[in-house]
Amino acid sequence: MNPDEVLKSIEEVAPTRGWPIIGPMRGKLLDEVVTSHRPDRMLEVGTNVGYSAIRMARHLVKGQKLVCVEIRDDMARAARSNFEKAGLSDRIEVVIGDALQVIPTLKGPLDMVFLDAVKDDYLAYLKSAEKFLHSGSVVVADNVKSHESEVKSYLNYVRNSGAYSSKYREAPPNWGTDIGDAVEVSVML
Ligand SMILES: C[S@@+](CC[C@H](N)C(=O)[O-])C[C@H]1O[C@@H](n2cnc3c(N)ncnc32)[C@H](O)[C@@H]1O
Repeated sequence: MNPDEVLKSIEEVAPTRGWPIIGPMRGKLLDEVVTSHRPDRMLEVGTNVGYSAIRMARHLVKGQKLVCVEIRDDMARAARSNFEKAGLSDRIEVVIGDALQVIPTLKGPLDMVFLDAVKDDYLAYLKSAEKFLHSGSVVVADNVKSHESEVKSYLNYVRNSGAYSSKYREAPPNWGTDIGDAVEVSVML
């Protein structure tokens, strides 16, 4: 299967299985960030079955890399199997564990970070990844509309610390059963 076919197959079952994937609408925003910033090394925090990771990694070429951190064994296994099906295993590494413990052990630099695990911990994830970021690194945070109160401290930091140029980008509902949501795209100055 090619990556787009694997994405379609996940989209078809995600709503009924309750997989909280970014989906095609905000997924397009993620595509735009990857194709405009052309990151060599990316980090994803919260991978689930690998949908957003496949969206990002299909734009990478050999030698570029995405590291995914996922706390659940079963989800990490499902993600690895999907990466295999999509032919992207050579570009994606999955680390199983709590992102708050895993991130400080990673190697930099990171050109892009995608935050999508515990919403209350977005600021803590960013702070622990910040030593790997450089001017021009881009950080995308999902669900900043639906989880506005949980991500308040994060948004306050990326919008007002002076360290980032930050944009709120809203997308329509994925399935007709949700209310639509937004991502925050923040570029380190
Ligand atoms: C919203 S889902 C990720 C969806 C995925 N990014 C996508 O769009 O296809 C959040 C994932 O974060 C994982 N997670 C929760 N707490 C975590 C933690 N402390 N460290 C790493 N992963 C975590 C959950 O198990 C879940 O699979």
